[in-house]
Amino acid sequence: MADSKASLSIDGKVIADFPILTGSAGFDVIDIRTLGSHGYFTYDPGFLATASCESAITFIDGGKGILQHRGYAIDDLAKKADYLEVCYILLNGDAPTKSQYDEFKSTITNHTMVHEKLVHFFQGFLPDAHPMAMVCAVVGALSSFYHSDLDINEPTQRMRSAHRLIAKMPTIAAMAYKYSIGQPFVYPRNDLSYAENFLHMMFSVPAEEYKVSPTVAAAMDRIFTLHADHEQNASTSTVRLAGSSGANPYACIAAGVASLWGPAHGGANEACLTMLEEIGSVDNIAKYVAKAKDKNDSFRLMGFGHRVYKNFDPRATVMRETCHEVLKELNIQDPLLDVAMELERIALEDEYFVSKKLYPNVDFYSGIILKAIGIPTSMFTVIFAMSRTVGWISHWDEMLSQPGQKIGRPRQKYTGEINRTFVPLDER
Ligand code: CMC
Repeated sequence: MADSKASLSIDGKVIADFPILTGSAGFDVIDIRTLGSHGYFTYDPGFLATASCESAITFIDGGKGILQHRGYAIDDLAKKADYLEVCYILLNGDAPTKSQYDEFKSTITNHTMVHEKLVHFFQGFLPDAHPMAMVCAVVGALSSFYHSDLDINEPTQRMRSAHRLIAKMPTIAAMAYKYSIGQPFVYPRNDLSYAENFLHMMFSVPAEEYKVSPTVAAAMDRIFTLHADHEQNASTSTVRLAGSSGANPYACIAAGVASLWGPAHGGANEACLTMLEEIGSVDNIAKYVAKAKDKNDSFRLMGFGHRVYKNFDPRATVMRETCHEVLKELNIQDPLLDVAMELERIALEDEYFVSKKLYPNVDFYSGIILKAIGIPTSMFTVIFAMSRTVGWISHWDEMLSQPGQKIGRPRQKYTGEINRTFVPLDER
């Protein structure tokens, strides 16, 4: 809906008017799609002020610490729904009825196994391969298994791919872990919940069944929920961009996994634990806090700060509660957890962090929980990728269901050489 107009003046002369579009919440946007015809492009590296799409999936108000999926507040979802309900909501738009939920759960549960040929893909990796490398490759490889579901213009095929991805990601993730530690793969079990099944595939061995603790399963489920979607972040935008060319869903999700991997995004939880290990003891915290504050030192406190949340991250608030519950319940004595808790206390009080609004983010607490429940650090980002798959695929599906979609194609401000005379190699 165009409510009003914005005028662009260059040197005091109005050169064009642009409609201002209003969404259901959040900032209005200036529709500058015709700007190119006036001889200008906008310049916005890092997309600090650019809305790249129209979406009805997730709303964030970073200033107020609001995160809602399809209009439902994240803390309500984290406390009152399980992850599969959240998946249903993200994919379908509304909370499911009991029978819709049962049917969805049964569909996901019945897609958790992977083709036996896919199992062989892992044998090509060195045992010390990072599990993210395996997941990225194996998810992309799924596109070679489901030829009958790759018509991206067909909504039922898109939904089937979405179900397959949500169901198979935990299986692939757990296989990457088992391969890296030289244990046999553990097949999924249909009698377990989504979170329990993941823990079972991670920790069971043929010699001994893993007894899933309800506290640990609940914490795992909550970690999945709190990572399920987060609007147009780097990896979701990557999935949309890859999907805008018509690429198949498995290839698009592999692109999302790659984009998530970096330490400024999904890799932060792993980087946070690596940092805690480097700090090593509570006595060293002051030194590292000073490094983080030093402008001439590139060191940052990993797990602190966020591009959009400048007061608090609502996911971190819920995750903090779970973190403290899990630590209390499991009663684990680990010096790294002491370092984490002391770092949290200092950063919440230190003037530098308070004034720059650098609060512990969701990955700070999820990293500590995952460490406490015995998940190896290298699997942290994989778990983020598993949880975020539903968000990625929901955005991909939404994009393809909107009419008039164009391939994503940003412009640039060119700063290189121009009109040079090329001298052939033998004359140079
Ligand atoms: N430690 C120390 N200083 C920091 C930190 C930090 N973690 N984060 C930001 N700053 C400082 C930064 O140096 C800058 O200072 P100044 O204004 O004096 O130049 C100021 O705070 C603003 O930082 P920025 O890099 O301009 O902010 P941004 O919005 O571009 O970056 C961020 C956000 C998350 C990339 C950044 O805070 C960061 O690198 N944090 C650590 C990595 C991390 O935990 N990432 C996970 C984010 S949550 C998961 C997700 O949603 O993907």
